[in-house]
Amino acid sequence: MTDTQNVTLPTIAMLGAGSMGRAILSGLLAPGVTVQGGIRVTNRSAARAAELSGTAGVTAYATETKADANRLAVDGAEIVIVAVKPAMVPDLLREIGASLTPGAVVVSVAAGVTTATFESLLPQTVTVVRSMPNTPAVVGKAVTGISGGNRTRPDDLALVRTLFETVGEVVEVPESQLDALGTISGSGPAYVFFLIEQLTAAAVAKGFTPEQAATLVNGTFLGASELLVSSGEDPAELRRRVTSPGGTTERAIAVLADADLASLFTRATDAALARSRELAAS
Ligand SMILES: NC(=O)c1ccc[n+]([C@@H]2O[C@H](COP(=O)([O-])OP(=O)(O)OC[C@H]3O[C@@H](n4cnc5c(N)ncnc54)[C@H](OP(=O)(O)O)[C@@H]3O)[C@@H](O)[C@H]2O)c1
Repeated sequence: MTDTQNVTLPTIAMLGAGSMGRAILSGLLAPGVTVQGGIRVTNRSAARAAELSGTAGVTAYATETKADANRLAVDGAEIVIVAVKPAMVPDLLREIGASLTPGAVVVSVAAGVTTATFESLLPQTVTVVRSMPNTPAVVGKAVTGISGGNRTRPDDLALVRTLFETVGEVVEVPESQLDALGTISGSGPAYVFFLIEQLTAAAVAKGFTPEQAATLVNGTFLGASELLVSSGEDPAELRRRVTSPGGTTERAIAVLADADLASLFTRATDAALARSRELAAS
């Protein structure tokens, strides 16, 4: 994650301040991040917009009460983050096209919608960067993939990297790899939570209370992740250090290795990739 002590970004419009939009917003509101000209956010419902309207530096609009909320938000914005559901993207782009500021960078977080689709629905005067963040953005620990489109300039990618570094780490990949990246880091938090659920169930089956099981398992995932990061060691080496020859962990790892988790994860991520292609085609 970037040192957010001295980050300055130009005026931002965020269209769709739902789960992902708000996660990104939390980084933009962190101490040390200055958004010159402020942040405009839009929602459909007035109630959702009201949740954000008291936030310093944020102007919240709702289409329910201001039909031209999205056009107002993008007018003068140099970064326009599109964070509505993928199916809603085309209509939204048609709505805002004429109000976009020439030179603006339109940043998509919509899964599966290509930069070609964005570019075909937007004026030639703006550029597009597609991104795939993940939900740990809420705690500043996101991993976000970014890819440029046909018109994207290196400066646009650098700007969007700075934007997403306010919520974590950024990896730049060709757009052809972005859906695959989504199957690893985009969906990845769900895989980790699923593993945590399964190990917690095993702990409860061994007689621990749900609270004890949660402490044991959550603490172990957190501690192991922090050890991995702070030691700089390879995970295989850290695993070997817990696995004494002839010991108890070795027996457990042998059972897990028999399950061939690598091929299981390949199948799971292949299934996610196939689904993202189905969604893109629909
Ligand atoms: N959640 C994730 O893990 C994740 C990860 C990567 C990418 N994404 C992408 O992020 C995008 C948003 O997902 P989400 O989970 O944040 O969905 P969400 O919670 O449903 O948020 C979507 C938001 O868009 C607003 N909205 C809908 N139509 C609008 C319009 N015409 N103008 C202005 N605002 C409008 C909704 O407002 P109301 O609430 O008022 O209806 C809602 O707040 C999706 O494209 C998704 O693919 C999500």
